[in-house]
Amino acid sequence: MQKPIAELIRQRYSCRKYQDKPIDGGQQRLLSDFLGLKSAGPLGARARFVLVAASDRDRQSLKGLGTYGFIRGAVGFIVGAAERAPRDLEDYGYLMEHAVVFATDLGLGTCWLGGTFSKSGFAKKIAVTAREIMPAVAVVGYIAEDSRFGGWIRKRAGSDLQFPWESLFFDEKFGEPLTPERAGFYAEPLEMVRLAPSASNKQPWRIVRVGEALHFFLQRTKGYGEGSLLFRVLHLADLQRVDMGIAMCHFELTARELGLTGHWVIDEPDIKKPDKNMEYTVSWKRALV
Ligand SMILES: Cc1cc2nc3c(=O)[nH]c(=O)nc-3n(C[C@H](O)[C@H](O)[C@H](O)COP(=O)(O)O)c2cc1C
Repeated sequence: MQKPIAELIRQRYSCRKYQDKPIDGGQQRLLSDFLGLKSAGPLGARARFVLVAASDRDRQSLKGLGTYGFIRGAVGFIVGAAERAPRDLEDYGYLMEHAVVFATDLGLGTCWLGGTFSKSGFAKKIAVTAREIMPAVAVVGYIAEDSRFGGWIRKRAGSDLQFPWESLFFDEKFGEPLTPERAGFYAEPLEMVRLAPSASNKQPWRIVRVGEALHFFLQRTKGYGEGSLLFRVLHLADLQRVDMGIAMCHFELTARELGLTGHWVIDEPDIKKPDKNMEYTVSWKRALV
């Protein structure tokens, strides 16, 4: 990437209005080559991604796919398929968000779209098999000129809607806020998690630092995720697990750029959870050199 990760993450927002102009051939190649490099997520699920041009039909079909924003002028989509695996949705989120950050570096606007894509025309574009899932796609294209100002206002409004540190990050146990000062060199990677996109902007990630390890938990929104009526009726993918993968991506890319080496492990710590809607996802363990 050309620009620092933190700058790209701060620059990104969900763009919902695009210029009616195809993505430049050189940029298409760079993005497609980048997508071609992705094959497995950090938690072991295999996935593949491609860039496709949007047809008028795709734009129409978006309306029936349970996507809640109104996207105008979409010219391209990043579509993907992950093989079913225990952490497939987290890995899908991680890999797709890496592509979103890469597209941001190319100066392109993006917007995640979650919905029931596995049986849609989008799934046909990448020939999703029965062993695979397609929980979301991303729109990509040139940000419409006149939406830039609107985008800025929206971003400002949006950033006011991001939860503060004390609601998201904890020291040793839930209920004990982790301040940026106490987070030390983890302050920037955690701030980049705070700015991550999430389905319906629910920001479900909660992180507890214990010593040199950071434990990532999913605070489920009641009536939203797996098991809820809404989820069953609409056959929605468990997008809050995708959100966790997005948070992992922002955290890891920022940490690595700062030279903080480490790795992901699934090893639930003995931490008292505040309620039954809090689920353990993964931990980042620092590699001490
Ligand atoms: C998994 C996922 C699914 C999303 N689905 C939609 C969608 O269907 N329609 C839409 O307009 N925005 C969608 N979004 C964008 C979120 O609404 C947006 O990320 C959130 O409101 C925060 O705003 P920001 O991305 O501008 O920072 C989705 C985001 C994620 C991560």
